[in-house]
Amino acid sequence: MISPKSPKLYQSSVHQSATADATKVFACKPTALHAHPTIIVNAIPYKDTIRIAFPKRLEIRFSQMKDRRRARELAAEFIQKGDPTGWFEALYREAEEGKSTVPWVDYHPTPPLVGFWILHPQETTGKSALVVGSGFGDDAEQLAAWGFRVTAFDISETAIRASRKRFPHSTVEYHAANLLAPPPHWRGQFDFVFEANTLQVLPASLRQPATKNIASFLPPGGLLLVVARGREPSDPEGQMPWPLTRSEISAFAVHGLEELLFDIIPDLDEPGVRRFRALFRLP
Ligand SMILES: C[S@@+](CC[C@H](N)C(=O)[O-])C[C@H]1O[C@@H](n2cnc3c(N)ncnc32)[C@H](O)[C@@H]1O
Repeated sequence: MISPKSPKLYQSSVHQSATADATKVFACKPTALHAHPTIIVNAIPYKDTIRIAFPKRLEIRFSQMKDRRRARELAAEFIQKGDPTGWFEALYREAEEGKSTVPWVDYHPTPPLVGFWILHPQETTGKSALVVGSGFGDDAEQLAAWGFRVTAFDISETAIRASRKRFPHSTVEYHAANLLAPPPHWRGQFDFVFEANTLQVLPASLRQPATKNIASFLPPGGLLLVVARGREPSDPEGQMPWPLTRSEISAFAVHGLEELLFDIIPDLDEPGVRRFRALFRLP
């Protein structure tokens, strides 16, 4: 368990070289939990901020703000030619070559994951975790720092290669794999599954099989934490990333999971954006 006063944040070569002038504060304020019953034990009082230090100058090419134009162009192009997941690798490759940026790369763990952990630290000894759509590995490294034995996967081989390179001494097992056709031996294998922001970059028609596969990774008693941009059903779908409705999040229940928590969190980096965060358990 981590202490709420000093949540353990993973150390990477990036963080070790951080200086005080490059410190960013993430205020992971959770909102009120909704009316769903919770069985989470060990809930602790919320501490208002945590600090994660990282250098501003490093790997700037990837963090040049959220310019989504190229990502949207590639998404549209690949979807039109019937390959709705091919654009991720294309985008990461362009970024590696310095031609584009990956808008979601920010070199820190997802704030709603850290905020969840501060509120609900989990026992990790001897437990396994799986990170879906792991990007450059920050969430996977964070879960490993909290004590899980972590597997992380992304459809982009370039992203997986970059994760291994960023964290050469990591205990995380990184794999290039497709959520829509995951390795069969992952079924029922992970005590804690974390999915942030992957469902929302898949076309709506692929979310149902993706949701089903994510649910299949849990054994009885396993937990799934999901984070996604949220929208009201009456809001337009908008452009990629396509925010999910509450019922798209609740679709995990169709696959036998029980929803334990649901909350809505304003995005501190993007005013006007809100994230849905939900915790499920396979009974
Ligand atoms: C929007 S990014 C989110 C990355 C990270 N989870 C985060 O929140 O920062 C979605 C990630 O999922 C990966 N991805 C998309 N479709 C996938 C699939 N079918 N299987 C595995 N990974 C996928 C992308 O390559 C990308 O790294």
